[in-house]
Amino acid sequence: MDKLLIRGGRPLRGEIRISGAKNAALPELCAALLTDEPVTLQNIPRLQDVATMLKLIRNMGAKAEFSNDGTVVIDSKELHFPEAPYEMVKTMRASVLALGPLLARFGEATVSLPGGCAIGARPVDQHIKGLQKMGAEIVIEHGYMIARLPAGQKRLKGAHIRTDMITVTGTENFMMAAALAEGETILENPAQEPEITDLGDMLNAMGAKVEGHGTGRIRIVGVEKLRGATHKVVADRIECGTFLCAVAATGGDVVLKDGRADHLGAVIDLLRAAGAEVEPRKDGIRVSADKRLEAQSFRTTEYPGFPTDMQAQFMALNCIAEGDSKITETIFENRFMHVSELMRMGARIDVDGKVAVTHGAEKLSGAMVMATDLRASASLVIAGLVADGETLVDRIYHLDRGYEQMENKLRVLGADIERVK
Ligand code: EPU
Repeated sequence: MDKLLIRGGRPLRGEIRISGAKNAALPELCAALLTDEPVTLQNIPRLQDVATMLKLIRNMGAKAEFSNDGTVVIDSKELHFPEAPYEMVKTMRASVLALGPLLARFGEATVSLPGGCAIGARPVDQHIKGLQKMGAEIVIEHGYMIARLPAGQKRLKGAHIRTDMITVTGTENFMMAAALAEGETILENPAQEPEITDLGDMLNAMGAKVEGHGTGRIRIVGVEKLRGATHKVVADRIECGTFLCAVAATGGDVVLKDGRADHLGAVIDLLRAAGAEVEPRKDGIRVSADKRLEAQSFRTTEYPGFPTDMQAQFMALNCIAEGDSKITETIFENRFMHVSELMRMGARIDVDGKVAVTHGAEKLSGAMVMATDLRASASLVIAGLVADGETLVDRIYHLDRGYEQMENKLRVLGADIERVK
């Protein structure tokens, strides 16, 4: 199993490019299943989760070519197996994004229930209820969601959908399903993340009629057929935010090319309050810090609030900043698994339910630590970059799921980091 060996203490300096967003690429690869014409997606990041999604759609019968320049061409004309088997879904929950498109185009879909996950229970009940409102018949059998249209019905029907909580992949499933449904669908409290906006833009390029994506109300008028299109995946705001924190924590000075400051408002506000300089530029973001930062309290919320996917990384920064911080995780019930690993490096953190309180330490000390999920891994890397001595991060397959070439990018910026077997 690969590990990352980091010798801490070097400020990051230089320039790197931010990759395409994992959480936009995954629904967009599924959206390509909505048409029998070829779809070209540019700026697809080379990640384990993307590889899993490509395997999933190829397993259904779609053709998908991934070129070296980050372009994927998907041809799902001959799709003969509208199913997402357990073996794949269990390794990547985002496989549930196949449900909406398959049901909308073929009138049937069989998708494994994802089961539990390191950061929380993460049920998909809202996806099921929403699609049922659009007329789907869904039964759970042998661990699978088996969805189909009522006998004699050719298309899903537009509906008004208000979910019990805001859900990102749920919103995406409804948008994709509604794009080919009969009539109008209104999503009353949709997620507003930039990945939702990007998916809506892609669907519109395919001939869909989606409006209001990125706001608190999305309206979709279904069309009978969607066509092929070319779409460029938006930059990854979480990768960008992770590097912002890493640079600020190490006291460096870096330009993150293609990074979108307009998608990171809550994170940037907090970094500035902590004492970092963040300068939005036409083609990216420059970030620097030249003194010890001040710890900042925050609570995670849906976009445009502070993202849960940045909580662990900002906590690592708070651990070596001056003063105390109170971090409240409101999206997932079990997303503090990095805490005990950070504490092995000398961080001082108290956890009580969904609240973690950090007490800034002057220094962290390198240690052997274990990654437990994707963003937890990133927080351990940040801690390793600022710690004294060597840090060995184990189980970095979590990191490989969602960060493209992280150690290479960090090495370009001057970090002493290597992958060891
Ligand atoms: N929820 C339900 N029932 C549902 C759907 C959601 O109870 O049917 C709950 C979840 O358990 C959670 C909350 O609602 O407590 C929000 O979950 P959401 O559905 O928004 O999460 P998701 O769509 O499964 C996406 C990202 C996650 C990110 C969350 C929150 C993708 C592929 N995944 O997950 O990304 O943390 O939104 O922003 O877009 C990551 O990249 O590391 C990651 C975990």
